[in-house]
Amino acid sequence: MDNQKIVVANFKMNLVLKFEIENWLKNFLKYKQELSSVNTRIILIPSALNALQFIEKFKNIKTIFIGLQNVFWERKGSFTGGVSSATLKSYSGEYVILGHSERKKYFGETEEIVALKLQNITKVGLKGVLCVGEDIMEKKNDLTKQSLVRQLDVYLNNFPQGQLNKLLICYEPIWAISTNKPTNPPTADEIMTAKLIIKKFLVERYGINLAEKIKILYGGSVNQRNVEEICFSAGMDGVLVGKASLVPAELVGIIRKVEGK
Ligand code: PGA
Repeated sequence: MDNQKIVVANFKMNLVLKFEIENWLKNFLKYKQELSSVNTRIILIPSALNALQFIEKFKNIKTIFIGLQNVFWERKGSFTGGVSSATLKSYSGEYVILGHSERKKYFGETEEIVALKLQNITKVGLKGVLCVGEDIMEKKNDLTKQSLVRQLDVYLNNFPQGQLNKLLICYEPIWAISTNKPTNPPTADEIMTAKLIIKKFLVERYGINLAEKIKILYGGSVNQRNVEEICFSAGMDGVLVGKASLVPAELVGIIRKVEGK
């Protein structure tokens, strides 16, 4: 596996007004030159309504890729309100976040739905940022391993092996997401343990050669102060950043740390 690190910015449903997104773009683009020459793969996931604008703005910056926070599991048809993965692909978008706990909590997404969506985006040629993580009860009851394995087992059922290199798996303990106000974020040891659980699952299912191609990220209250510990002490291939990505200077600070600067 190459050692390129990944930083995914998940805006969620923030920066909702036109001037807010324009300000964000203006401030982020102040770092355009620096961002164009990083080794890190930067994946920006704005709201669906802003995605095409982002694709246009960043089309000449080779280090930056754009994605969506959700798509429907069918590519086309009478599905009022659905967003099509094929549309994102045809506009040269690249990624879709899947399995996020907020999609499950507020939009009723089940693990089976996540699996359908993953199959759909793979068919149209998009890449997935697949979130897996335990909730607070599972953590308290020492069920993290069972929870991660269960989710991976459902999500990757019927997943074509040839597409595994298009997958980013993100370990995101639900209790550690900033809006859930974690008292103690997971330690580097806990994050690394989760990574090993995921790796072991992948090695058992696909063999070491394929498993090694899949990058594993961490998400949950990532900021400039903890990102080095996550990427270097816990050995993650990158991070999924929510709240901190809303401030361009903070996101750039995270990218710098990931670059080892
Ligand atoms: P956070 O969000 O960085 O604000 O904790 C991460 C996420 O939920 O993707």
